[in-house]
Amino acid sequence: MTDQTAPTKATPTLPDAQTVTSVTHYTDRLFAFRCTRPQSLRFRSGEFVMIGLIGDNGKPLLRAYSIASPSWDEELEFYSIKVPDGPLTSRLQHIQPGEQIILRPKPVGTLVLDALLPGKRLWMLATGTGIAPFASLLRDPETWEKYEQVVVMHTCREAAELAYGRNLVEDLPKDPLIGELVAGKLHYYPTTTREPSDRMGRITDNMSSRKVFTDLGIAPMDPAHDRAMVCGSLDFNLDIKRVLEEAGLTEGANSAPAEYVVEKAFVD
Ligand SMILES: Cc1cc2nc3c(=O)[nH]c(=O)nc-3n(C[C@H](O)[C@H](O)[C@H](O)COP(=O)(O)OP(=O)(O)OC[C@H]3O[C@@H](n4cnc5c(N)ncnc54)[C@H](O)[C@@H]3O)c2cc1C
Ligand SMILES: NC(=O)c1ccc[n+]([C@@H]2O[C@H](COP(=O)([O-])OP(=O)(O)OC[C@H]3O[C@@H](n4cnc5c(N)ncnc54)[C@H](OP(=O)(O)O)[C@@H]3O)[C@@H](O)[C@H]2O)c1
Repeated sequence: MTDQTAPTKATPTLPDAQTVTSVTHYTDRLFAFRCTRPQSLRFRSGEFVMIGLIGDNGKPLLRAYSIASPSWDEELEFYSIKVPDGPLTSRLQHIQPGEQIILRPKPVGTLVLDALLPGKRLWMLATGTGIAPFASLLRDPETWEKYEQVVVMHTCREAAELAYGRNLVEDLPKDPLIGELVAGKLHYYPTTTREPSDRMGRITDNMSSRKVFTDLGIAPMDPAHDRAMVCGSLDFNLDIKRVLEEAGLTEGANSAPAEYVVEKAFVD
């Protein structure tokens, strides 16, 4: 892991420009960065915005990104893939502190607490960079005030790909704002699928086989109390929806809150 931090803010020159303040590389495919936050930007933890750079044609080249920082944070954080030939991330991966990105300040999305009916236990189910919206929600006091238990299941192919989420979860009890709220409420269940590690297997398989309930010593899903948020690849989202529906949960939205909500981590 390598860190770089900017000492000062640069003057914005791009439309909707924000200045990168720090960059952390986790693997050759994953990095995170923080940037300044527009004063006018209000968002709900879990939402996404469009961010990007000026393209070769001089026009903004924008992509959807979950805001990984909580709504109270004075900066914004993003967690990103590096697609070698990706129009945006082939360049974004080289961003340095002090440089600028474009950020369209129109947050949207379904992974918000308001889109769920009140419940007792919240499941955050993520593959790959799908952990990003949960990095926001896990650092929001409202999550911990609304739920008695929070279960985070994050699955990646390899162990190094879990590092961003693992660091974040391990830091929660030390957080001055929410450390006390988190105590005794958090269950973290990271797994790998293509590299041996302490816990292995797909989220879908570990739920269907009930292994996750046994391993964590917790009760099986009950639609009266359990709520879930899902963020992963299209295939994962489709398969986990079936698992949740079989457990009796129904899909909700901002306009019609229910027992679970889903967002794509990327479009294939
Ligand atoms: C609602 C929403 C939220 C998103 N939030 C994030 C986020 O927080 N972090 C993030 O890194 N990306 C996120 N994405 C994906 C992001 O919008 C871009 O696709 C990504 O930054 C790559 O951009 P690109 O121009 O380099 O390549 P693109 O042309 O956009 O993608 C090329 C290919 O790379 C693969 N790919 C793209 N993104 C990912 C990914 N995240 N994980 C694995 N494979 C991928 C897909 O196969 C895709 O077809 C989100 C997408 C959506 C729809
Ligand atoms: N991760 C890498 O090291 C790597 C390297 C080079 C290129 N890529 C490319 O990058 C793209 C995205 O890769 P990614 O690793 O970020 O995402 P991914 O392929 O969606 O895999 C992320 C995790 O989700 C699991 N998963 C996938 N489909 C699932 C389903 N239907 N149900 C339950 N779990 C499921 C995977 O398990 P399984 O392992 O069992 O599929 C893996 O643990 C792919 O096109 C890939 O070819 C990835």
